[in-house]
Amino acid sequence: MKLIDTPASLQGEILVPGDKSISHRSVMFGAIANGRTTVTNFLMGDDCLSTISCFQKLGVHIDVQKDKVIIEGNGLDGLIEPKEVLDVGNSGTTIRLLSGILAGREFHATLVGDHSIGKRPMTRVVGPLRTMGAKIDGRNNGEFTPLSIRGGSLEPITYELPVASAQVKSAIIFAALQANGKTTVIEPLATRDHTERMIKRFGGKIDIKDKAIYIEGGQSLTAADIHVPGDISSAAFFLVAASIVPNSRVLLKNVGLNPTRTGIMDVLKNMGASVEISQNESELFEPVGDITVRTSNLTGTVIEGDIIPKLIDEIPIIALLATQASGTTVIKDAHELKVKETNRIDTVVQELQKLGADIVATDDGMVIKGGTPLSGNVVNSHGDHRIGMMLAVASLICEGELTLENAEAISVSYPTFFEHLTGLTQN
Ligand code: S3P
Repeated sequence: MKLIDTPASLQGEILVPGDKSISHRSVMFGAIANGRTTVTNFLMGDDCLSTISCFQKLGVHIDVQKDKVIIEGNGLDGLIEPKEVLDVGNSGTTIRLLSGILAGREFHATLVGDHSIGKRPMTRVVGPLRTMGAKIDGRNNGEFTPLSIRGGSLEPITYELPVASAQVKSAIIFAALQANGKTTVIEPLATRDHTERMIKRFGGKIDIKDKAIYIEGGQSLTAADIHVPGDISSAAFFLVAASIVPNSRVLLKNVGLNPTRTGIMDVLKNMGASVEISQNESELFEPVGDITVRTSNLTGTVIEGDIIPKLIDEIPIIALLATQASGTTVIKDAHELKVKETNRIDTVVQELQKLGADIVATDDGMVIKGGTPLSGNVVNSHGDHRIGMMLAVASLICEGELTLENAEAISVSYPTFFEHLTGLTQN
């Protein structure tokens, strides 16, 4: 598809759509709790709809309405053996967290996904869930999909995560809720804590001391209504777009500001961006605020260490931002990018190079020399929603025409992205 002509500026406001991670979890907790859970501002993106469809096949009644999702939970014991395979589509969060739930259920289920899911490592969840007692098999001894799970009685474990991953942590927490005793999970670095927050919201008990998380088994949860905050990972595309398109001012409303997700705000500030938070409601179960962003002069920075899990999904759009900053930006300690929807070190570098950016891949990140004008070309999302949106934002500042192939991947996390983007452009 041919993208947007270079606008003179971006002006206006956007109500940011629901957070993907929180939307997934709201369905999962609603499905295993007792009672009716109503979720508002649910993200109707392909990934979250995959989660709904998997739980429907597990016997949970879920009603998807225009602006809300209603889940009739009958507790963990309400889940039934599915007659069909469970298709997670493109969603890593669905397959990994669902594996943790199924590990403790005494039935058989097969999990499949798309081409990208077929390349993503599952041993990181399969390993600890097997240690707890689940019978899991899959291609290459459980490393890849299709996965076949026969759950049952689980023993608690003490598990130190070898990689900082909220998906792995959450899978073990879901299994731990069903184990015969107390499980301990230790994180190398803090990762998004939506699962921990949501357990409490559904009346469960979880103790957190520094990087250790303790969960008692045998808990039953009670339905709760959830209002999903806007996704900061979706807002990120507009935070960057308004920073680099001249004379812009954009108000992003209802952005989730969970401190385990706000790494991009710190990076923007370090680079000299103009971002201001107002209406900050920090007392909610997930903090939310509005952000005003204006065009500014940017300088390069170094992004490494503890902050990486707090902005892991924003690195593609941060790379674009860095192409427009003066000086060099270095991104390190981000090996995990290699096992996302695509190898995001390769896809970001390859596609931005096509636009004339001075960017090189390293083993754990990338190095970007900024201040380079970009020029249009034919680029490709590689089926990765965040690469697609990054390239669409790049089209706003490119000289000449940019054509984006496989743009439809964007509906995985942001079905109204183009509507929102074109609504801000001023000529
Ligand atoms: C997610 C965790 C992160 C993130 C993904 C969503 C989650 O993945 O990249 O988009 O909802 O828990 P990892 O746990 O693999 O780092």
